[in-house]
Amino acid sequence: MASLSLSSAHFSSTSSSSRSSISTSSLSPSSTSLPLLQSPIRRRYRSLRRRLSFSVIPRRTSRSFSTSNSQIRCSINEPLKVMISGAPASGKGTQCELIVHKFGLVHISTGDLLRAEVSSGTDIGKRAKEFMNSGSLVPDEIVIAMVAGRLSREDAKEHGWLLDGFPRSFAQAQSLDKLNVKPDIFILLDVPDEILIDRCVGRRLDPVTGKIYHIKNYPPESDEIKARLVTRPDDTEEKVKARLQIYKQNSEAIISAYSDVMVKIDANRPKEVVFEETQTLLSQIQLKRMIKTDKASPVQDKWRGIPTRLNNIPHSRDIRAYFYEDVLQATIRSIKDGNTRLRVDINIPELNPEMDVYRIGTLMELVQALALSFADDGKRVKVCVQGSMGEGALAGMPLQLAGTRKILEYMDWGDDETLGTFVKLGAIGGKEVDEEDDMFILVAPQNAVGNCIIDDLQAMTTAAGKRPVVLINPRLKDLPASSGIMQTMGREQRLEYALTFDNCYVFRLLYYLGTQYPIMGALRMSYPYRYELYKRVNEENGKEKYVLLATYAERPTPEQIDDAFSGKSRDQSKKASGIW
Ligand code: AP5
Repeated sequence: MASLSLSSAHFSSTSSSSRSSISTSSLSPSSTSLPLLQSPIRRRYRSLRRRLSFSVIPRRTSRSFSTSNSQIRCSINEPLKVMISGAPASGKGTQCELIVHKFGLVHISTGDLLRAEVSSGTDIGKRAKEFMNSGSLVPDEIVIAMVAGRLSREDAKEHGWLLDGFPRSFAQAQSLDKLNVKPDIFILLDVPDEILIDRCVGRRLDPVTGKIYHIKNYPPESDEIKARLVTRPDDTEEKVKARLQIYKQNSEAIISAYSDVMVKIDANRPKEVVFEETQTLLSQIQLKRMIKTDKASPVQDKWRGIPTRLNNIPHSRDIRAYFYEDVLQATIRSIKDGNTRLRVDINIPELNPEMDVYRIGTLMELVQALALSFADDGKRVKVCVQGSMGEGALAGMPLQLAGTRKILEYMDWGDDETLGTFVKLGAIGGKEVDEEDDMFILVAPQNAVGNCIIDDLQAMTTAAGKRPVVLINPRLKDLPASSGIMQTMGREQRLEYALTFDNCYVFRLLYYLGTQYPIMGALRMSYPYRYELYKRVNEENGKEKYVLLATYAERPTPEQIDDAFSGKSRDQSKKASGIW
């Protein structure tokens, strides 16, 4: 039996969403003003975001999303400082291209800088040329001065740097130490010698784009590009062997200088696979730094990692605000990164329709916090709740959503006529998309027994084109009725379509199989970082904490979660049993 307390917008359902219901007839504007959403609190919320100074969305001056920029930038992060090293042709330049594209670091390649000097015919170029052509190292004083000058420029300080091919001698490493230049990470690309020679001999460069090709491994995309490719003078087999020899003589001293931050990567794999590993390492540094910054920042000094007392219902304002902010930042990062089909899955007890403490008000608050934040930055946001999906006896709409449109209308959207201008309410469907809309937030779109929302959703995303569509807690699996009303035709296509939405935020609590108490741990993913698995640990003073157990590039399977909790390596034949 469901009941609704209007003042707290709290309604309980015993076990499933279908049993949750809400009477809209008794709603009145005054009774539905949710306490957390009063203007002063919203202002506090906005100011909190401002003080965190995420610079990812422009202010009201611009309404367009940049979908082409796929770089990760987040101003609360100190810029990354990365060194990449490895033998000739280990793939440093190739990885740098990908890193720069993703992380926006300033690429400082001593090889490229020297080649530019040579082709411009400068004094430095004239001196460097003969060393380079013979495969030997250019004298330290030339290279050190060049790098020191480049590192001191504003762009490198602001965006971070990626040092490629430097230091290459102990003296060069010492010079950096004197300048107090230390990397966050020293990536060493490891490739067997015989592969290196083939890579060098087959390497071709595009003088127009600077892109690196290989005649076999990475051939050019067109005949036009192929015709203009050039070969480096030091890429003959004989010279490569000499370069390799010199590299080996120096590498040990350099590696020992950075052993505390060194990570060796097997670079004898396709460049995409190597990059996946590189990218994960860099994202982890950013994540750790973000957590540290949050802890140190006055506005986040109460930051506790995963919030505790999640079994206490209703959740405190702090806990709700934590999750709204967490979801918001992940969504902002994902949109800024060019993603347009996003999905948020947040399953704290108050947002889990399977639990008897589900609160529709919390879901509405979350949606409002997101919508207002984007609206505050000049975007025209359409918040959409699906309508009834049939006629007569077939009319259907998930009960969980019944009345939510009304709640949204009655909520306090501020006194500056935000609702109706920067935030509009709508349903789900192709016709709901107006030219002026910049983005769409869809409230828990879901299939109802006998009805499928996917067609409407698909029509909507087609009409939205490159504009972001964010699904909050969607449930897009088929729910066939016992009478089989839900069509089974096209099921695969529907599931495939549902998968086109990328998770930008995931949070769920973990329990022993079949129970909802006690909380065993939590799984969190906040774009673009990895899935983090936490274990809840009771402390002596009656408190609790969440301890990071493992991280994963992909959502971990129940088996992987089981393994992490039991600390065992998996026997393939073993089935998952414990945590869900
Ligand atoms: P530099 O240009 O830095 O040359 P290097 O260190 O010898 O490295 P390379 O540029 O040859 O290779 P790379 O690791 O970047 O590989 P790439 O991605 O191109 O330096 C040139 C010269 O300048 C030096 O010899 C020296 O004289 C001088 N110099 C530079 N720095 C100096 C310093 N600090 N001090 C003194 N002198 C200095 O890939 C190679 C090929 O493999 C490509 O064809 C690519 O398509 C292919 N490939 C890349 N990744 C993969 C993969 N995963 N699988 C298959 N193929 C791949």
